[in-house]
Amino acid sequence: MSTFKIAPSILAADFTRLGAAIEEAEHGGADMIHVDVMDGHFVPNISMGPMVVAAAKRATTLPLDVHLMVEAPDRCIDAFVAAGADIVTVHVEVAPHLHRVLQRIRETGTRVGLAFNPLTPLTALEGALPYLDLVLVMTVNPGFGGQDFIPASLGRIEAARRMRDRINPNCLVEVDGGVTVKTTPQVVAAGADVLVAGSAVFGGHASVADSIAAIRAAGTA
Ligand code: DX5
Ligand code: ZN
Repeated sequence: MSTFKIAPSILAADFTRLGAAIEEAEHGGADMIHVDVMDGHFVPNISMGPMVVAAAKRATTLPLDVHLMVEAPDRCIDAFVAAGADIVTVHVEVAPHLHRVLQRIRETGTRVGLAFNPLTPLTALEGALPYLDLVLVMTVNPGFGGQDFIPASLGRIEAARRMRDRINPNCLVEVDGGVTVKTTPQVVAAGADVLVAGSAVFGGHASVADSIAAIRAAGTA
């Protein structure tokens, strides 16, 4: 039986009742809460900052998985850690001094993640893996929820999985974008450990708990 974690993305939640949405996810079997931070520069959209992370922290005991889609992550790592982030993930595309930024996150005592956009070569992953707790393979272009999964991403999930098995078996492979009950079986088969799901959990097609259960079942069957 495959075991994988589900990280609902609150980007798709109703912000007027964010605390309740997070509680529903926790009680519905979520393993962590994914927080999408967008700065209007690295991605066109602007979403939420440390104040929302601090509010989410008050609503749950689950780990907060903070995905920084920002151009200068070194400027805001401390603020997100202080707000309660348990994992801080930065994008490889904005980190020319990658070793330094990964070390910076490590020094805070928070878990360290590195994200790759859909067509960014995974070459930097080889050297980065010893410093990582999580590698995030983007399966849509970052910036918006509700987009279709890019099928060519499956081979990249497999490649990241092979690399982590070889270099750092403790590093989780996380997949983000277009995860639904339809794509879950392939994503899990490709080797993902953590599935981020926004609209598939909070989109309102079913209750949050039922939506999480459906993803769990789709990946376990
Ligand atoms: C996209 C974000 C995702 C997003 C996923 O930029 O990184 O975490 O919330 O949304 P869905 O699951 O709707 O594709
Ligand atoms: Zn994300």
